[in-house]
Amino acid sequence: MTTALVTGATAGLGAAFARALAAERRDLVLVARDAERLAATAAELRDRYSVEVEVLPADLASAEGCAQVEKRLADVGQPVELLVNNAGIGLRDGFLENPIEDEERMLALNVRAVMRLTHAAVTGMASRGHGDVVNVASVAGFGPTAPGSTYSATKAWVITFSESVHLTLRQHGVRVSAVCPGFVRTEFHSRASIPTADIPDVLWLDADTVVREALADLRRGRPTSVPSVRYKVLGGIVRYAPRPLFLRVIGRAARSVGRR
Ligand SMILES: NC(=O)c1ccc[n+]([C@@H]2O[C@H](COP(=O)([O-])OP(=O)(O)OC[C@H]3O[C@@H](n4cnc5c(N)ncnc54)[C@H](OP(=O)(O)O)[C@@H]3O)[C@@H](O)[C@H]2O)c1
Repeated sequence: MTTALVTGATAGLGAAFARALAAERRDLVLVARDAERLAATAAELRDRYSVEVEVLPADLASAEGCAQVEKRLADVGQPVELLVNNAGIGLRDGFLENPIEDEERMLALNVRAVMRLTHAAVTGMASRGHGDVVNVASVAGFGPTAPGSTYSATKAWVITFSESVHLTLRQHGVRVSAVCPGFVRTEFHSRASIPTADIPDVLWLDADTVVREALADLRRGRPTSVPSVRYKVLGGIVRYAPRPLFLRVIGRAARSVGRR
């Protein structure tokens, strides 16, 4: 049985990745900060799927937390064949309002941890000639948002980074894919106190469906995955619209929000 490591595995998309990979009979290493919740998640997966599940409590916004997980990824005795960099956070307020420490914590988790863990994992994968990395980005990474935090910029980094590593490593047998979901029903928005009442039902995705499409796209060798037809269309508009036109539209929307 091969082993997959999933970050942010106790809730939302990470928990859905853990379930899907356990159902494929992969052993798992689960990472998140809350040790009790990790232990409960691991017990449930062991019971339901009869796979081995290790837990690794770590705060990936810290250099120490990253180092703990890097150590596990570098363990050639029990190689990790699939890394899912999923843990990430958003912020409710705009760049001007947010304390810089909050922006920096988000950057550390959404960007630095993704880079460090990918680096730790792909070294062994390239030498073995195979391995997979899934980086959870967002459709928000396809363009700027305003008013907003630097969340979309962190996800733009994840997309470009994943595409670059995909191109660099495919000749070594390593597949890398950035998943770009739209709104998914998870704990993400409530953790950041982001209001969701105005988001229409049609824009919400289910975590298990997102994960199913993400894993299928990884196996097709696609460097980016945009789950659901809805978001392929919406994401495509944002991604491929002429940038000056897009900036004008977003700028106008931001000014009207500012006037309210
Ligand atoms: N939900 C959406 O609408 C949406 C849309 C597009 C992209 N995404 C992206 O999807 C990914 C997963 O989000 P989600 O919606 O599934 O969020 P979620 O339901 O809030 O789950 C977040 C998971 O990450 C862990 N985590 C949070 N901070 C961490 C840290 N500092 N170190 C280690 N683990 C940490 C949490 O556990 P602990 O609190 O115990 O650490 C939890 O397991 C994120 O990268 C997010 O940006 C989400």
